[in-house]
Amino acid sequence: MKSIGILIVDDQEELRDIIQMILEAEIQGEFYHAANGLEAIEVLKKNEQKIQLVLSDNRMPKMSGLELSQINDREFKLPFVLISGEDLKTSQPNHLFFQSDKNFFLEKPFKENDLLSTVKKIQSGIDSLPPSHGRSEEYISIKLQYLVKYYMHAKDVYLLIGKDKFVKISEEHPELTDSKELLDHYAQKNIQTVYLKKDQFKFFICDLQNHFKSLTNLNDKVQLAESIFNFSIDALKKINIHQTDINHYTDILEQTIIELMKDKSISREFISLSKKSDDYKAHIILTCILAAKIIENTSLMFKPTLKTITLASLLHDKDLSESDFKQELFPNQNQMIRKYFDHPIVASKFFENDQTPFREVERIILEHHEKPDGSGFPHKLKASQMAPMSALFILSHDMAIHCLYEAQLNQNPLESFFDKHLDNEHYKTGNFGKYFNLALELFKNN
Ligand SMILES: [Fe+2]
Ligand SMILES: [Fe+2]
Repeated sequence: MKSIGILIVDDQEELRDIIQMILEAEIQGEFYHAANGLEAIEVLKKNEQKIQLVLSDNRMPKMSGLELSQINDREFKLPFVLISGEDLKTSQPNHLFFQSDKNFFLEKPFKENDLLSTVKKIQSGIDSLPPSHGRSEEYISIKLQYLVKYYMHAKDVYLLIGKDKFVKISEEHPELTDSKELLDHYAQKNIQTVYLKKDQFKFFICDLQNHFKSLTNLNDKVQLAESIFNFSIDALKKINIHQTDINHYTDILEQTIIELMKDKSISREFISLSKKSDDYKAHIILTCILAAKIIENTSLMFKPTLKTITLASLLHDKDLSESDFKQELFPNQNQMIRKYFDHPIVASKFFENDQTPFREVERIILEHHEKPDGSGFPHKLKASQMAPMSALFILSHDMAIHCLYEAQLNQNPLESFFDKHLDNEHYKTGNFGKYFNLALELFKNN
């Protein structure tokens, strides 16, 4: 069956994905993406014969949707759907845009059905377009890559195994209890299309829309920051960190997280953090609180250093699934699987093209499992080979792991952490020694 070529133009990648998912569920299409008007023109020129419809946001850097629509009116003459948060029909009713019957307007936030009916209306007017492809009444097809990318819970995902016969993937592989692993398993088997029940699909799209529209709204950023902290703080109380300290650092860190969310790709990572387990959140937040307390008592610049350390704490294990994460708390060097061994390398790559100060985060994450005596991984660095900030981070991370593990057994886990390492020469040399002594002063007999 011939398919329709649709160009989606929006500066937010997530919104382009959402639009594609909604359309793909009902329309067989070939999708093209562009992040602004200028990019869109390039894509249109390269694919002149293949694209039959443009869907574009209005407010974008470099060239707006309205400007793009005017170029389209003159050069490409394609049906054009402008999607905007402002009601342009009221604010600019005489704009040229509204004089062409090939142009359509859709107000944001749009409902799934508004988008579909607009595109179908256009589709029915273009002879060469194929009709909607057949689909089951109950199930909606979706690209597996989108579920992997946006962490859809895998227990309600289906495979088509015969005419109108569907099977839940979680029932096919009951041994894979982690959603991400289950989806990864099928992605590796080259499965491209899976199915969701209609209600689940609507719920998934709605959930995504709510998350992404929130990234521009301060209240929602605050909520997201709070949801990262939203785990049982009993674990923190048990380890002899005063409630006043917890409140103090929670406030500072929430502010830092909101500040960091100005960066869209970081926001996206934070959204997936909010869905992690309590243990996972306790691990990253405790690492961050311990490091923040050490930083506050050094001559390091507090704010920029805190930003660096907060990012490193929150994202250093970003590629570990919940089941791989167990190795973070109970590491077993002898049975370390490749994926776990590589996680510092994989996570650090996220920052490799970044400008300073995030560039420093790359090295901290890469080195977060090194040990001062050279027994760590992935590069068996000795204390003298590590960046100073890595030493500070590794120490805070080690303390956090020790505390969360020992909190169940021991009344005062930080005490036993220092007892364990006090005679270790490697913990007392260079940068390690500097931060170890400081931590000893700050946390022992707290
Ligand atoms: Fe970790
Ligand atoms: Fe780790």
